[in-house]
Amino acid sequence: MFNILKNSFLLSVLLTMQIGFGQNFPHLQKKGNKTQLIVNGNPFIIRGGELGNSSATTMESMESIWDKLTDMNLNTVLTPIYWELIEKEEGKFDFSLVDDLILRARKENLKLVFLWFGSWKNSMSSHAPEWVKLNQKKYPRIKDDKNKSHEILTPFSENNLAADFNAFQKLMKHIKDFDQKEQTVIMIQVENEIGMLPTARDYYPLANEAFQKQVPAELLKYMQQNKEKLAPEFLEIWKKNGFKTKGNWEEVFGKGLQTDEIFMAWYFSLFTNKVAKVGKEAYSIPMFVNAALNAPEKKPGEYPSAGPLPHVMDVWKAGGNAIDFLSPDFYNPNFKHWNDLFIRQGDPLFIPEHRFDATAPFKGLYAIGHYEAIGFSPFSIESVGDAKKEPLGKIYELIEQLRPVIEQNKGKGKIDGVLLDKEKASQIIQLGNYEFTFKHDYTLNWSDGAKEAVWPMTSAIIIEIATDEFYIAGSGIVVTFKCLKDINCNAGILKTDQGKFENGKWNTIRHFNGDQTHQGRHLRIAVDDYEIQKIKLYSYE
Ligand code: DGJ
Repeated sequence: MFNILKNSFLLSVLLTMQIGFGQNFPHLQKKGNKTQLIVNGNPFIIRGGELGNSSATTMESMESIWDKLTDMNLNTVLTPIYWELIEKEEGKFDFSLVDDLILRARKENLKLVFLWFGSWKNSMSSHAPEWVKLNQKKYPRIKDDKNKSHEILTPFSENNLAADFNAFQKLMKHIKDFDQKEQTVIMIQVENEIGMLPTARDYYPLANEAFQKQVPAELLKYMQQNKEKLAPEFLEIWKKNGFKTKGNWEEVFGKGLQTDEIFMAWYFSLFTNKVAKVGKEAYSIPMFVNAALNAPEKKPGEYPSAGPLPHVMDVWKAGGNAIDFLSPDFYNPNFKHWNDLFIRQGDPLFIPEHRFDATAPFKGLYAIGHYEAIGFSPFSIESVGDAKKEPLGKIYELIEQLRPVIEQNKGKGKIDGVLLDKEKASQIIQLGNYEFTFKHDYTLNWSDGAKEAVWPMTSAIIIEIATDEFYIAGSGIVVTFKCLKDINCNAGILKTDQGKFENGKWNTIRHFNGDQTHQGRHLRIAVDDYEIQKIKLYSYE
């Protein structure tokens, strides 16, 4: 009896310790070659949407929004937390809006990713409180090369850093006290689209001083230790200057705008990592930063430079490890190109912002399939007209149903995705024993839409669940099959079922054959249909 009591006491001590040490908080976990987000002890895929910048400034303005979010099958809202609103007076914090958002999100069965609109929001410091903005002596701004100040707090000031991390730490402590049991808040974006403008580097006196100094040993050490995997464009700059392992910024990286950007990236990273670190000391949940992608024809200083962009990703990583990953915001069309750059060193992909256009839902499904992403989130999610009819909701419903199958197969090379339009109307995937040719549904020329000059974007996810067995889900695709074994082998459809997961169990709604599979020739999901099909293939001579 005594032993049982002793054991259960020990168990409860261990459990408390586990919670106390944070293992049970939302966290990231490696699975095979991919990363899962764990929330409430289970893998979680973010079916997200980011609110417009001012929507969450009062609960009143949020009132008409909640229904839209749930109508689109979101499970997570990305919402700013504004420094100017939580610390209107220095040292006096008001978290009522934070609490109200958390309580309401819980009611709606939604999770939250908070975006810390602290020192920087799209380069600028528009969300710094009045007492910061009005005291430029204590909280200095960047200067351009003409000695003109801009409304951007300089990352070189200790006062700026302390003011930001103090507020952020208080916020994180509050979230921990208020929410650690429920885990409504699952991740934090630290700052928003950091970037230097209108010059490639800051000319504030402390910045000028730092620019003359030696490149910090931590950065050079990181570069030497990770030489094999550095981003090629960054390695090239270092190589061009002779792979120097000491010297000032211009000695190591050469004279020019690229060096100004590397220099700024280092100091932005140091600052933001320190903010994230003190935040994590209060409550350790995943934290990331987001990047405003640069137009390739523009030079540093012409775009928000030195943010967490792929060409300076090594500098950002060398600056600390409190930031778990860097994320792209999409307002340009080169979806695959940029994602490939962000994941090239094995980091997880999460897309916190994508313009909420007609392509967004399909890119979301592709991201979850091809990149096995943690999640996806169109920006200005509340701008939708009829939320119930929105394709995003239909795609999110497919992802919701497939989540357990995705998580079970994550990181094992068993999941992929396709993204199709008129210009890229077909894509080949090899999975298991088969080669799959995915084509845009309009390539069949069976629908009037095929005659249009522009085809809607479509996409699909494919998951291998057993030998010869796959789930294929999405919209606007037609798939044919080949055997991978040898040229004399043919592939055929043994069985295709359209169905639904109900309470995690597959339920067949229709057995497909005849016209639905073109008498066994293909699997098809028409444009405007959103389906999951389970297909079993076989081979014959
Ligand atoms: C990207 C920013 O991160 C958002 O907060 C918002 O300003 C959008 N741009 C507007 O397009």
